[in-house]
Amino acid sequence: MRRPLTVLALLLAALALVGAGCGGDEVSATPETIEGEVPEETTTGEGNEDLPALDLTGDASAGEPVFASAGCGACHTLSAAGTSGTVGPNLDDAQPSYELAVERITLGRGGMPSFEGQLEPQQIADVAEFVSSSAGS
Ligand code: HEC
Repeated sequence: MRRPLTVLALLLAALALVGAGCGGDEVSATPETIEGEVPEETTTGEGNEDLPALDLTGDASAGEPVFASAGCGACHTLSAAGTSGTVGPNLDDAQPSYELAVERITLGRGGMPSFEGQLEPQQIADVAEFVSSSAGS
């Protein structure tokens, strides 16, 4: 009669590991416990959601007119674009990486609007490349 107890102990240990693993943010559910719909996580701009521009290669010279026409300069200072907005961070100082720029432009955060749907993924890639390659120059 020792076998079932061992299996039970292992199961409990596994469950404890799963529960402790993710900072309490994620609830793991076995198929038996799922009833109805699993609520979708609300996105806050964190994490790696759907960022199609990350799979593309940006062209900085194509991104410069996107920066101008999308109105980025109204909120951001970027000397390469000749803008002096002060609503968002000064991009010359922030010198964001390509990945960060793609994430912010696609998803937005706080006072930064999401440009998903307004800009094509290629335009997001281009303007992200323009910002990340020219910031601070
Ligand atoms: C309405 C004002 C506004 C507009 C328009 C805007 N941004 Fe922003 N942007 C912000 C604010 C505010 C933040 C800071 C968001 C945060 O981190 O909470 C930000 C953050 C960023 C960041 C991250 C900077 C860092 O280091 O944290 C990048 C890159 C960026 N914006 C690029 C752009 C680009 C490119 C455009 C145009 C496609 C644009 N923004 C349009 C307000 C704006």
